[in-house]
Amino acid sequence: MLSTPMTIRSETSDDKYMTGLDDPKSRLIFALDVPGLDEAVSFVQKLDGSVGMFKVGLELFLKEGPSVLTAIKEHSDAEIFLDLKLHDISITVERSVKSLLKYPVRFLTVHCSGGETMLRSAVSGAGDSGLEILGVTVLTNLGPDDHREELGYRKDLTLQDLAIIRAKMAEKSGCAGVICSGLEVASIRKNFKTLKTVVPGIRQIDSTLNKDDQKRVVTPQLAIESGADYLVVGRPIRDASDPKAAAQQIVQEISTALAKAK
Ligand code: C5P
Repeated sequence: MLSTPMTIRSETSDDKYMTGLDDPKSRLIFALDVPGLDEAVSFVQKLDGSVGMFKVGLELFLKEGPSVLTAIKEHSDAEIFLDLKLHDISITVERSVKSLLKYPVRFLTVHCSGGETMLRSAVSGAGDSGLEILGVTVLTNLGPDDHREELGYRKDLTLQDLAIIRAKMAEKSGCAGVICSGLEVASIRKNFKTLKTVVPGIRQIDSTLNKDDQKRVVTPQLAIESGADYLVVGRPIRDASDPKAAAQQIVQEISTALAKAK
């Protein structure tokens, strides 16, 4: 399987993309938050066929470099989400995005807080390659009690307001979608119909007491009912005694929520 260097798909809301989303499994993105290639490949082998996408974050990418992307493709047909959360001057972001185009990546994240010009540059770097730029609105480990003023946020803005402002920037800049919490996804879905919504901070009801460092969490069912297109799940699958069964249980929950929404 490895020899195909690049299998980026370019899909729009009226063709394969929607067909793809009809399959509940395609909506589940597993965060490969592991220290190295061996662990990553082991999870890819375990979860191939049970999730729609694998997310490579900073930990794994910085350890292994881009070769981890092709290694994943060697073991699975699932798509790859590269979660680098870029935030730099526009030209650097644009050139960095261009330098990723030779790898098999479907989604790439950029911080909306970098501003509209930077987001536009990321989109321009991707061009018509099929790589889709997602804008990170507000991290899900930021809670209403965090010292947001110290971070430079206006006192009168709620996290929800901030997420909406940033989603608007993402839409105006031509991003394919946004990363947002399950608490904001309903209003983002309502206000920005063309944006794909990707929701991390997912926890099952019976694990609400164990949110790890995430503060704005929802269940898979609530996220889907609120309009999430994709769910990002890491530790609840990675740390389960049977990761495949944990993934399948989440897919079942997605499926039930989709059936209810019809
Ligand atoms: O383990 P857990 O399910 O909390 O993993 C969430 C994943 O989603 C992590 O890889 C994290 O980097 C990512 N993420 C997030 N919040 C965002 C964007 C990405 O938690 N706003």
